[in-house]
Amino acid sequence: MNRLDGKVALISGAARGIGAATARLMAEAGAKVTIGDLLDERGRETAAAFEGLYVHLDVTQEADWTAAIAAAVERFGGLDILVNNAGVFLGKGIEEASLDEWHRLCAVNLTGVFLGTKHALPALRERARQSAHGSAIVNLASVAGLVGSQNDPLYSMTKGGVTLFTKSAALEFARKGYRIRVNSIHPGLIETDMGQQTFVARARNVGTNDIEAARQVALERHPIGRLGQPDDIAKGIVFLASDDSAFMTGAGLVIDGGSTAQ
Ligand SMILES: NC(=O)c1ccc[n+]([C@@H]2O[C@H](COP(=O)([O-])OP(=O)(O)OC[C@H]3O[C@@H](n4cnc5c(N)ncnc54)[C@H](O)[C@@H]3O)[C@@H](O)[C@H]2O)c1
Repeated sequence: MNRLDGKVALISGAARGIGAATARLMAEAGAKVTIGDLLDERGRETAAAFEGLYVHLDVTQEADWTAAIAAAVERFGGLDILVNNAGVFLGKGIEEASLDEWHRLCAVNLTGVFLGTKHALPALRERARQSAHGSAIVNLASVAGLVGSQNDPLYSMTKGGVTLFTKSAALEFARKGYRIRVNSIHPGLIETDMGQQTFVARARNVGTNDIEAARQVALERHPIGRLGQPDDIAKGIVFLASDDSAFMTGAGLVIDGGSTAQ
């Protein structure tokens, strides 16, 4: 199950967190993995651990995408899997957020997903012709792309966009006969650097510095009794990238400890 032998993957924002865990699990499952990020030193260390390739990739820059995809194709001979994982969080209310902050959030969380999808398409189509079940794109949305977020409405707006872009891209590629499946992942609160940022924002929004109390509030919203770990999400991404999810496209996989079940 969930094997990726012979597959080539590119993961954005994978120097740390969910992306780094995904890169490691994909390599363990037999894939050749390229990771891109802004954090060059951390990214090189992450890639070295599984003999992968690191490329500098700012997902908001078209030229960076072109170069990253070319580097992955040149090193590993093609591209079967794209994971649009890079994302940023704001943690401010509508009254507090500035226009510049909104533009930055959009550039990474929305423009980055559009550019990655657009520029990976030729290489993904090429490999799809030769493989049994085609190529795969996995987009990192969020539970905040399914239900509203009282702490970060602007982040929620971008992730809602990723949710519907995923479905629309799946339909467009199916209509065109490209054999590229597109699915999204919707994590609950995961203990990464971004997870930590959400506790800080939650504390600030109620006028305290009590990060531990904010963490406790987040924990209570997860009926399963714990917060998520990067591997909880990485396992779902590997599944959506593998041929075991061959009949899934335009779907959203919710991995949230029950938080949106209530
Ligand atoms: N942690 C959570 O609770 C959570 C919940 C739901 C969804 N997500 C989503 O999962 C994804 C990964 O989040 P994470 O928790 O691992 O966060 P993280 O902050 O630990 O990692 C995000 C990575 O993206 C990189 N990045 C940021 N801007 C970039 C850019 N312009 N170009 C390239 N790379 C860039 C960062 O350098 C970092 O390495 C994000 O899309 C996030 O929105 C996270």
